[in-house]
Amino acid sequence: MTNRFTLDHRLPQDHLATTLRADVLHGLSAAPRTLPSKWFYDAHGSELFERITRLPEYYPTRAEQEILARRAPEIATLTGARTLVELGSGSSRKTRLLLDALTAAGTLRRYAPLDVSDCALIEAGEALCRDYPDLRVAATVTDFEQELAVGDGPGPRLLAFLGSTIGNLDPAERRSFYAALRQALGPDDALLLGVDLVKDAGTLVRAYDDGQGVTAAFNKNVLTVLNRELDADFDHAAFDHVAVWNGAEERIEMHLRSRSAQTVKIPAVDLVLHLGAGESLRTEISGKFRREALTAELATGGLTVGHWWTDRDARFALLLAVPTR
Ligand code: SAH
Ligand code: TRP
Repeated sequence: MTNRFTLDHRLPQDHLATTLRADVLHGLSAAPRTLPSKWFYDAHGSELFERITRLPEYYPTRAEQEILARRAPEIATLTGARTLVELGSGSSRKTRLLLDALTAAGTLRRYAPLDVSDCALIEAGEALCRDYPDLRVAATVTDFEQELAVGDGPGPRLLAFLGSTIGNLDPAERRSFYAALRQALGPDDALLLGVDLVKDAGTLVRAYDDGQGVTAAFNKNVLTVLNRELDADFDHAAFDHVAVWNGAEERIEMHLRSRSAQTVKIPAVDLVLHLGAGESLRTEISGKFRREALTAELATGGLTVGHWWTDRDARFALLLAVPTR
């Protein structure tokens, strides 16, 4: 590994133990029962997500890639970014289009990816340092909901949040997120946000319930994490992966539905779950957006949308916003 790569581990040592416990205890005792989605992304989960991005049914990655391929040079000119910060960067695969454009424009000095998954950051960082011989990669392992560590890279900074990961936050979480973002961004900085758009329910559901069962395996991986970290005794075969379109909230919901009445023990948090047949745990929400409502929501959060681009089929949008003056 070169000295152009740094990894700043900002999660406390006992993060898995304490935060996961609190999330599980709180989420699974509530009605409806939920599990927070960031626990999907252990090493195996990050790998499964990469497979999701290549599935024929999962169009968002390709649609966003199409927009980036077309608009990256314009984004580089508009922002003149010297630092590219990215939240929930995962494999940083699509990000290469931005890195290429900012390198060609001659402004880029530093790439600062941030993710809860240290494996994903290390793998992506190694590959990027190999392919971009002049780039400094300053990676941070943290939870962007707890701390928006955007670092001290030279400005102007472009903060990218791609893959419609913002849709995995509910409206209240999004409001807190915008407030933190508004604090973190300087007057010359900009936000590049990728969001999936509202469309017909069939297309949406198929994107989260693919024919090969990769999304089902990804969803069930959260049970593996609980079994490993909390000594729980979830049986994968006792649950069905379910993706439903919630039209009122305009979001996809992922559930794990109990096939029969069963009892699950989670000793580390002293919890015994009695699940009825057909009862489900909600493991993820994926909100879908409309231009007008999202622009208004960002304006309330102190961010002015200046550009809005979509792919040719208008399935996905990429927007550029700046702190409101
Ligand atoms: N940006 C990539 C990956 C999206 S998947 C893409 O567009 O394909 C979501 C990524 O966000 C995962 O790598 C996951 O580990 C990370 N993530 C999810 N919740 C997070 C949180 N609260 N804090 C930091 N990273 C998070
Ligand atoms: N941000 C991605 C999305 O909402 C995450 C994702 C894709 C996901 N497929 C998933 C999360 C399946 C949980 C389960 O599209």
